[in-house]
Amino acid sequence: MAHDDDSQALDRAYQPSPGLGVAVSDPVQNPGLPPHRERMTDKDPRAEKNAARTVYSLFYLSLAGSIWAVAAYMLFPIESGALIDIRNNNLFIGLGIALALLALGIGAIHWSKALMSDKEFIEYRHPTRGKDSTREAAIAAFAAANEESGFGRRSMIRNSLIAAVVASIIPGVTLFRGLAPHSGANPEHPHVGDPVALLKHTMWDKGMRLARDPDGTPIRAADVTLGSAFHVIPEELAELSHHDGYLEEKAKAIVLLMRLRPEQLIEADDRKDWSYDGIVAYSKVCTHVGCPVALYEQQTHHLLCPCHQSQFDVTDHAKVIFGPAARPLPQLPIMVDDEGYLVARSDFKEPVGPSFWERH
Ligand code: FES
Repeated sequence: MAHDDDSQALDRAYQPSPGLGVAVSDPVQNPGLPPHRERMTDKDPRAEKNAARTVYSLFYLSLAGSIWAVAAYMLFPIESGALIDIRNNNLFIGLGIALALLALGIGAIHWSKALMSDKEFIEYRHPTRGKDSTREAAIAAFAAANEESGFGRRSMIRNSLIAAVVASIIPGVTLFRGLAPHSGANPEHPHVGDPVALLKHTMWDKGMRLARDPDGTPIRAADVTLGSAFHVIPEELAELSHHDGYLEEKAKAIVLLMRLRPEQLIEADDRKDWSYDGIVAYSKVCTHVGCPVALYEQQTHHLLCPCHQSQFDVTDHAKVIFGPAARPLPQLPIMVDDEGYLVARSDFKEPVGPSFWERH
């Protein structure tokens, strides 16, 4: 009966509108709905029971996957820095999360295909706000859907679904812990310590030579010709292994070195001895969100960050002249040692990179 009403409504919808000037000579016929096929679970109570068992088993499997992901995070810690631990950590957390999401998805699909009502109907568009009677009908439809899906009635499925959905969030939240370094200094791992101190200091220190990235060759002032730019790391960085935090230290200490004519530099009084004969060194870590500022325009003396196009003026303390960065690039004070090599006068005088709460 409902199908007949739907067919008539569709036929009416296909009538050409008078005045539109478009002749619809052969409108597409309403094919109607194919004959309804009953599912096994509609006919056989045992099949229905089996399907319900499969669904909540999948939801509990999903729960187990989430628990395993959290357990794997603790069982295979990455803090040791060993490659095998990092691999195992990623592998087993990934397997746990994959199992959780896969079982949750398959369970939900199986529930809807095998157990929820499979009535077929056509839903027509209607004005955005329905009449009160329509809204009441919608509420009644929700109540009916609740009844037909068995969400309220099938407590095992409902509870296992809720448990699986809630648990599936936990591995993601747990992984955030890995973003914060451990507190408490560890002499064996110099990169592990107070998180705020880690962000405020780099490995640059008085007398540390500036070296080429990545081979670590020290740079003489005479090597830096007018207009040239060098990608620079601290010479002692080469002595660190990945296990000792090579990447973490490099990510903070990386520097760009450029030579301009001394008269092109605008230097504040308290920074006059931070450069050497027109050679200046600035942090390569963008103060916006930390991308490497790697493009140097020799003619304009601008540094360009490729991520969001911030530009910094090397002649004027690397101040921001365009883009979203809010602060100049920190300058590394430099000088020359007895053998003519460029060395740092000290660490940076301010934290490098993007802002963080405790920066000041
Ligand atoms: S990170 Fe450099 S502009 Fe955004």
